Amino acid sequence: MPFTVVWFVGLCSLFLGYGVHVEASHRGFSHLQSQEQNTTATYQPYRTGYHFQPAKNWINDPNGPMIYKGIYHLFYQYNPYGAVWGNIVWAHATSTDLVNWVHHEFAIKPSIESDINGCWSGSATILHGGKPAILYTGIDPQNRQVQNLAFPKNLSDQFLREWIKSPQNPVMTPIDGINASSFRDPTTAWKGPDGRWRVIIGSKIDRLGKAILYRSKNFTHWVRAHHPLHSSNNTGMWECPDFFPVSVNSTVGLDTSVNGPSVKHVLKVSLDDNKHDCYTIGAYDLKKDKYVPDNGSIDNSSGLRYDYGKFYASKTFFDSSKNRRILLGWINESDSEQDDIKKGWSGIHAIPRNIWLDKTGKQLVQWPIEEIETLRGKPVDWFSTEKKAGSEFEVLAADASQILEVLDITAAQVDVEVLFDLPTLEKAENLDPSWNDPLLLCSEKGASVRGSLGPFGLLALATEGLEEQTAIFFRIFKGQDRYVVLMCSDQSRSSLRQDLDKTTYGAFLDVDPLHEGLSLRSLIDHSIVESFGGNGKACIIARVYPKLAINDNAHLYVFNNGTENVRLSKLKAWSMKKAHIIY
Ligand code: FRU
Repeated sequence: MPFTVVWFVGLCSLFLGYGVHVEASHRGFSHLQSQEQNTTATYQPYRTGYHFQPAKNWINDPNGPMIYKGIYHLFYQYNPYGAVWGNIVWAHATSTDLVNWVHHEFAIKPSIESDINGCWSGSATILHGGKPAILYTGIDPQNRQVQNLAFPKNLSDQFLREWIKSPQNPVMTPIDGINASSFRDPTTAWKGPDGRWRVIIGSKIDRLGKAILYRSKNFTHWVRAHHPLHSSNNTGMWECPDFFPVSVNSTVGLDTSVNGPSVKHVLKVSLDDNKHDCYTIGAYDLKKDKYVPDNGSIDNSSGLRYDYGKFYASKTFFDSSKNRRILLGWINESDSEQDDIKKGWSGIHAIPRNIWLDKTGKQLVQWPIEEIETLRGKPVDWFSTEKKAGSEFEVLAADASQILEVLDITAAQVDVEVLFDLPTLEKAENLDPSWNDPLLLCSEKGASVRGSLGPFGLLALATEGLEEQTAIFFRIFKGQDRYVVLMCSDQSRSSLRQDLDKTTYGAFLDVDPLHEGLSLRSLIDHSIVESFGGNGKACIIARVYPKLAINDNAHLYVFNNGTENVRLSKLKAWSMKKAHIIY
């Protein structure tokens, strides 16, 4: 039998028990590099099974993702010499499914004056005739940030293994008042109705974050527009901007140059201040060549985020083979630099997500790409067990806090989906109007704080005695004119180690729990719990380092720690196979 019902009389108490200068964020640590590593599995319980990561060393932003002749290309920021940031090159891997990858030689590394001190982030654009071009930031001998251009050496090589830098480099330089240390990360270019290409570069002036706009007729000679595409006060440096159209009436993705009446635009910026990827939804005014966020789309760090956990420097691309827009992002470690050096690696990438505009037009929806399901093993389905066949739900009773263990799975490497069905919400706690910060609310009301409707959800990477657990859960409140759903990911007990990040992440989830129920999917992979609430309306990544809940000692549970009953109407889990990543 794949599940057992475990009555935890003591669950509650268990829960309760507990000028020109280099940016400071880009320091190199040459003295900390190239240490010898022990790479055997026992010593590497935090390496992931199906998330993208190289064999060793430091990795950050995804760069220049694209599809070319049926092959997906992923480049990324990489330090060939150590597990800390520095010596940055563009590493390169290709794939036919965005899940299994083959590495190639570095695509772009310092070799010319305009990138001699580093090849930083950038993007790919498919030009007419299907020819790819890469724009990336180079660091020149004066440590100025400039933009460079590169083309494939051989267009008949679908793996695009060699890249040639344009003799015109640098094609954009920080002149006329641009801050030379805040001028980086060119986007994929798009074409306007006048036939000219446009691209934006992340920047700031004092605390004003901005997206500097350039235009070009031939992709090589770039002219700066008089005004930025957009800017916003008091947001600091905008790293890795991304600007793309979304369809208002369908979930299909659009090529970056598409515009028209049934299109809205998304501007995402990676805020260097707090390492959050924030976005707004708005309109691209072609006449003024300006982006205007919709009324109500908050244009600063308290606005919408792709992910309310650890997820940064992301980038999308249009996948023309499946007409979808794919989002890739970097997940930094949350342990110490010394830990990373010991591990011999630092950083992974999130599971690629398909993204589209929600039918409300007010936010994006994200869902792991369907290809990840090819790694799923045999499903373990609570409702098809002999005992449960034919039943529609399981009551997670309130009178004694109840948890179910999901058995017969590899709990350290699993994909799990649950649906909670809530026939009545009358007993929901009232929401104090001052409770408007979901992060604070989740911290104050962690998994161990009993409410009425909630907390209920999953306990991932948990030990049998629950000393270690990463809880992902919901709480439902009665707001002034509607029910308010809070989604949290509680890291306070993820590890017995005390020196780690214990943040409880949180987000409000715009769903109607009475009619839709509350769904949760978590992709659990040794040291990462990547969760999607409300069918992808809020996502939270937790980066965790359990001491005991590793490999076969990890368990997965469904729990309800509220005083009201909750009905569970779906519980399906799949042990996940390892992705093939050839280094
Ligand atoms: C974002 C970032 C980019 C920069 C790159 C350097 O993480 O700081 O702004 O181009 O990383 O590696």
